[in-house]
Amino acid sequence: MIRSLDAVPGTVDRPLEGKKILLGVSGGIAAYKTPELVRRMRDLGADIRVVMTANAHHFVTPTSLQAVSGQPVRTDLWDHAAEAAMGHIELARWADVLLIAPASADLLARLALGRADDLLTTLRLATRAPVLIAPAMNHVMWLHPATQRNVATLVGDGNTVIPPDSGAQACGETGPGRLPAAETLAAAVLATLQPPRQMLAGRRVLVTAGPTREAIDPVRYVSNHSSGKQGYALARAARRAGANVTLVSGPVTLPEPAGITTIKVTSALDMQRAVQAHATDCDVFIGVAAVADYRPATPADQKIKKLPGRSGELVLTLTENPDIIAGVAALRPRPFVVGFAAETQSALANARDKRLRKGMDLIVVNDVARGDIGFNAAENDVTLIWDAGERHLPKSGKDAISDQIIEQIAALLASESRSTS
Ligand code: CTP
Repeated sequence: MIRSLDAVPGTVDRPLEGKKILLGVSGGIAAYKTPELVRRMRDLGADIRVVMTANAHHFVTPTSLQAVSGQPVRTDLWDHAAEAAMGHIELARWADVLLIAPASADLLARLALGRADDLLTTLRLATRAPVLIAPAMNHVMWLHPATQRNVATLVGDGNTVIPPDSGAQACGETGPGRLPAAETLAAAVLATLQPPRQMLAGRRVLVTAGPTREAIDPVRYVSNHSSGKQGYALARAARRAGANVTLVSGPVTLPEPAGITTIKVTSALDMQRAVQAHATDCDVFIGVAAVADYRPATPADQKIKKLPGRSGELVLTLTENPDIIAGVAALRPRPFVVGFAAETQSALANARDKRLRKGMDLIVVNDVARGDIGFNAAENDVTLIWDAGERHLPKSGKDAISDQIIEQIAALLASESRSTS
């Protein structure tokens, strides 16, 4: 979660004192904002070295960045004088954090492929420091599936991607793709450098994610638009919080997250079997999957043919799937049960009712009628509802939202164990 810069007691003025930040600047219009970013992070106490890609020069000069960082700026892997002073491997070891801002669409693609064809991409592979990536580009380029695929790969590889802001762009259009303010980027660096709070250390967390596919015949199925992004983000957030995480995933195109046991399933019945095998020995169950409520009653063994002479209609009979989360909530003893509700009308009222009906401890509701959040989007805006409270989490990236959901779950678990001990 990105904490506010002045939320760290005793370090209000210079919370980044002594921290070594390697800033990678690539060739996008937002590069002109990086001198201000360097100045802001130096004001907060950081020691900064800047590396630019070849195209970054078109938008900001090395001289400006050298002046504000107080250090020589490097651009070339083959600069013998610079290598003699501090070689690229030493520079990679020197950094407490690598912040890449702005990251152009081309740089995201090179990073996602694991290329090492210039100094910045080489440093990213050579460093053990956490890597923060702040993409900025034209909104159509940002929303392109190729870019989104690269972002998903980078997140799956353990990088933190800071989602771009929405608003007026240099090209004259409006949409997501603006580099967030220097304050936001500095806060993300600070949050990364503080040791993660191990709020779920020693806890076992089981998460379901993605859609299910219900076979009509060997080549056709009934399914939905769930991308799995929110479930995967929650599994990663639980892992960051120290939990031992098992993820039961329907068919999605996301990479398997590092450090998490992932079980791939297809149908609701497969998902139910995998959940039943693990639910009795978990402390928290988080049902994020968009489970199909119904499946074709008798899937055909062979591909259904379009027969001449049929009336123009084909009737498909559906039968109800088991409710996986209600099944987990009915177990005794049972884990702490968290469910999701994607609603298109009367979101809060429907979610309150759904929480009680399915026996959930906490429900996370989003209003998918808005169109810009939830299913398949990079961002979400949700309300958490439990027996003694409700909390709105304003629109933000699915990783940041997940960290806040995990914090709330950890707080409720802690109060539950206090009241039962
Ligand atoms: N869920 C489940 N098993 C199902 C259907 C849903 O475990 N067969 C879980 C989802 O993972 C989610 C929650 O139940 O956590 C809410 O799902 P939703 O589809 O909104 O609930 P429904 O019972 O289908 O309610 P409705 O269709 O009436 O909105």
